[in-house]
Amino acid sequence: MRKTIQAIRGMHDALPDQTPRWQFVENKVRSLAQSYGYAEIRMPIVEPTELFTRSIGEVTDIVEKEMYTFQDRNGDSLTLRPEGTASCLRAALQHGMLHNQTQRLWYQGPMFRHERPQKGRYRQFHQIGVEAYGIPGPDIDIELIMLSARLWRELGIDGLELQLNSLGSAAERSAYRTALVNYFSDHPDQLDEESQRRLRTNPLRILDSKNPEMASLIANAPVLTDYLQTESQTHLATLCETLDKAGIAYTLNPRLVRGLDYYCRTVFEWVTDLLGAQGTVCAGGRYDGLVSQIGGRDTPGIGFAMGIERLLEVLDAKQQNITPPTVHAYLILPGERTVAAGLTFAEKLRDALPGLALQAHCGGGGLKSQFKKADRSGAHLALILGEDELAENSISIKNLREEIDQTTLKLDALPAYLADTFNLEQA
Ligand code: HAM
Repeated sequence: MRKTIQAIRGMHDALPDQTPRWQFVENKVRSLAQSYGYAEIRMPIVEPTELFTRSIGEVTDIVEKEMYTFQDRNGDSLTLRPEGTASCLRAALQHGMLHNQTQRLWYQGPMFRHERPQKGRYRQFHQIGVEAYGIPGPDIDIELIMLSARLWRELGIDGLELQLNSLGSAAERSAYRTALVNYFSDHPDQLDEESQRRLRTNPLRILDSKNPEMASLIANAPVLTDYLQTESQTHLATLCETLDKAGIAYTLNPRLVRGLDYYCRTVFEWVTDLLGAQGTVCAGGRYDGLVSQIGGRDTPGIGFAMGIERLLEVLDAKQQNITPPTVHAYLILPGERTVAAGLTFAEKLRDALPGLALQAHCGGGGLKSQFKKADRSGAHLALILGEDELAENSISIKNLREEIDQTTLKLDALPAYLADTFNLEQA
């Protein structure tokens, strides 16, 4: 026998018993985003590699170690998108959506990072992202945080902590960078090899180091907040005051730097302690300089993305019950001669009752085995169209969930019966 083929490590199937939970989250986000005036955009999964190196930053974990990059048959370097912000902005720029206008957009889909797989960290994972362009804020920063806070309420998730920081403007970061370089240069023997390299290329990334031996060095490093000038300070203060008024709790975390280089001013993360090391469920921030980095005119931008797998893990940990979709009725078709008539009848029934969830039996078999399948489908009723029923233009109905005697109805009376039983509209 040939060896069976398995999914790639870190990439997972969402099986039918899990997809109702995915749909639950996706449906909530879809309707919430629409209600705030955000329109859906769908971008390709593969982009030119340069889009990500220019936006996320050459000296970041994602670009240095985690991208799925390959050459296509033309020799072009392509990358499976590791995130959606750069693609979304590329699309908006390419289609002239940024010129003298504001945009509120959202997207969802798979992202790819070659990280070490563990709980909450996968190589193919799924994000729902929300982005707004052309608004310098901080009103839009507040709206996005309010939108995410409302989503947690609608999903029944409490206990997420909002962490907030300001990364300042490019000029403020540059002054801070100098201070950081001076500080770390004074302690060269305490830097590991990677941090010594980052000291020359991207000193802010040293703050991301997970090396426990560098923890106290990092803890005592200068903080960016001390380098913010009036405009950035006011931006952050307005954001904080409005969140206070709206009753949205947050923690100011001056060490929050994010793993991507495009951010400025507001950055935030929603964090849980239910998932161990991978506790960030949703993260984002402002990226006013990104449009010009990928070739457009300066346009402010801000957004966030949440990891669907992590959200589902939080829902699991909270034992949030999500009911699978209902099957109203299962049509049992015993006897070969009833199959064609039965499938045709099922179509008529669907025309008559657009909201009806009707599963028709396929694959033959006796009455007993069809009843077993009807039961397993979760259907409330079994509709039996045997040869006797067919001859009499009738159908038998068996309630699979309650002790009620089997009844027989004329076929043309069935739509009204089902409409009444399941509270459905007739066409
Ligand atoms: P990020 O922090 O890299 O930001 O990812 C956002 C979220 O995606 C994380 O908080 C986490 O929930 C989820 N996530 C990231 N990597 C993995 C993984 N390997 N496995 C499972 N889940 C993961 C961004 O991607 C930015 N584009 C967010 C953004 C949008 N900023 C502005 N707009």
